[in-house]
Amino acid sequence: MSPLRCATDSTVRCHGTTTCRWPTPMDDLAALRQQYQALLDRLQRNEREFRRLGRAVWRVQEDERRRLARELHDGVGQNLTAIKHRLAAIANTLPQDANNVQAALDAAIALCSDTLEDTRQLSRLLRPPVLDDLGLEAALRWLARTQGEASGLDIAVEIGPLPALDTDLQTLLFRVAQEALNNIARHAQARSVLLRLVERAGKVQLQVADDGRGCEPEAAMRSGGSGLGGMRERLRLYDGTLDMHSTPGAGTRLRAVVPLPAG
Ligand SMILES: Nc1ncnc2c1ncn2[C@@H]1O[C@H](COP(=O)(O)OP(=O)(O)OP(=O)(O)O)[C@@H](O)[C@H]1O
Ligand SMILES: [Mg+2]
Repeated sequence: MSPLRCATDSTVRCHGTTTCRWPTPMDDLAALRQQYQALLDRLQRNEREFRRLGRAVWRVQEDERRRLARELHDGVGQNLTAIKHRLAAIANTLPQDANNVQAALDAAIALCSDTLEDTRQLSRLLRPPVLDDLGLEAALRWLARTQGEASGLDIAVEIGPLPALDTDLQTLLFRVAQEALNNIARHAQARSVLLRLVERAGKVQLQVADDGRGCEPEAAMRSGGSGLGGMRERLRLYDGTLDMHSTPGAGTRLRAVVPLPAG
């Protein structure tokens, strides 16, 4: 007896026993289902690995930003402060009639002050120390206050009770809020903004709503700007989503939702 395929072990061999039989369509279906499941498992493993790597790259990028921010603040910033003090000391030793030199020194001191302020601002933009020192809530309030002062927007912040969030999640939500507020300042022509952070059913929700000119959400998401697209990709690494609701002329609401890690 040599059937082409034996249903008992799905190979071309036959056991030659009484249990041997021809494969039925149900056997074929079961084999296909098994193959499909194996492929699906592999796909899911690859997807998990891809996300793990994506999160690792992003973490390295944030670490680098943190290092640069400190270097700018502590290194460049302190040197500029020292130069400013030395120039001021020289100015104090000048005779009363050295007006030209005095004016040149004053101009140099003013330049130092401006550069120092720019350096500090750049350092804070790269990685605000408040995020590492005091956490997300304080960092969002700081962001709203400084963005409001810089752009003239009236930014209200509402933060509900939240469980402790890990550093990655705090950074992620902070970056989304930062991009959303930047976009409002640049594109929305809004007057007021509401930034809300709450927990709902095991997920953290960040909403940033403005009363500006609105936009076409589909087009905005596809516009090729790295802002919204980059945020959506980052959120996906954490199983999160980003959606935008807007009607031209009636403001925009951006909402990021991220599941809290189990436990
Ligand atoms: N709050 C908003 N109000 C009105 N339009 C908006 C708002 N947010 C985004 N947009 C529109 O969506 C587009 C895409 O935003 P996105 O942040 O992706 O890119 P961008 O801000 O143009 O550039 P960048 O890469 O520097 O962020 C913007 O160009 C703007 O037209
Ligand atoms: Mg943008």
